[in-house]
Amino acid sequence: MKVLVTGSSGQLGSYICESMAGEYEVSGLDIAPSRHASTKDLTALGDIRDAGDASRAVSGVDVVVHCAAQVSVERSTEDPATDAHTNVLGTVNMLHASARSGVKRFVYISSAAVYGNPRSVPISEDHPTEPMSNYGASKLAGEKFTLAFGHTTPMEVVVMRPFNFYSSRADPKSPYSGVITKFVERVRMGEPPMIEGDGQQTRDFIHARDVAAMTVLLLAAEGVSGKVFNCGSGQSTSILELARTAISASGRNLKPAFTTPRKGDIRHSLADVSSARDALRFSPKVSLSEGISELLR
Ligand SMILES: NC(=O)c1ccc[n+]([C@@H]2O[C@H](COP(=O)([O-])OP(=O)(O)OC[C@H]3O[C@@H](n4cnc5c(N)ncnc54)[C@H](O)[C@@H]3O)[C@@H](O)[C@H]2O)c1
Repeated sequence: MKVLVTGSSGQLGSYICESMAGEYEVSGLDIAPSRHASTKDLTALGDIRDAGDASRAVSGVDVVVHCAAQVSVERSTEDPATDAHTNVLGTVNMLHASARSGVKRFVYISSAAVYGNPRSVPISEDHPTEPMSNYGASKLAGEKFTLAFGHTTPMEVVVMRPFNFYSSRADPKSPYSGVITKFVERVRMGEPPMIEGDGQQTRDFIHARDVAAMTVLLLAAEGVSGKVFNCGSGQSTSILELARTAISASGRNLKPAFTTPRKGDIRHSLADVSSARDALRFSPKVSLSEGISELLR
């Protein structure tokens, strides 16, 4: 089976490609060259928004994993048009090229950002989708188009909504990097993790390798077409606990520092992971403390 992974130079895309190595014939498409040895050679440079690049990339492919995206919430506020162009029109372009080329299954990597501020936790897939950011809105639009193509074409479609994932492949220098990457970078420099607000806000963290493992299960699973799956650890971790875990893994004598809360920050986020567990027999392997120790190494 031939699989195309868009965003193969990125954090998750590179892990997905690695997880399939040896089992499937893998190719990648990314606008930027890969910094990871595993996806350097298999990534073709191209833009998901370009019809020619998309149709060349999907030619002869059985399954597309669409992972490429504009991924920053902050950037989606500063430049909403680029965010929508990439996440909505780029997705539509990939869907259209895939369906025309006879791709059998299209796996769309969405985001838990589509839920917005949850009304209750844990969040199951049928929780209302009320994104609070342009990024969440563009990822939701990508989902809607993906599911619509499942009705208007013979292509099977499936949507995955990862919660907060992390790994050593996230860029620590990026102003948009996630909280784990920021905390680990600070404790590594001997500086205290900087908590925005009281630290009692909670998140569901999962290692990118585990997200990749679940993606691979979605490539060939039976009876998943038209379905949406959360991807998380199912474990709730407060930001204060996270800061303490990072400090203790570093072995340094530090105390978390506090700063003003982030505007519009969601208080609690936790995935209901029962659909993935029941339909795919998926459970994550990397614990948070193992993942953080790996980052510090
Ligand atoms: N990081 C998280 O916590 C998180 C959580 C939920 C969902 N997601 C989703 O997971 C996916 C991967 O995220 P990541 O953290 O690995 O991000 P990443 O930035 O490491 O990877 C995204 C890749 O997409 C590529 N890309 C961007 N625009 C492109 C374009 N126009 N054409 C071709 N390639 C393009 C980038 O060059 C990059 O390599 C995204 O769809 C994101 O929305 C991320």
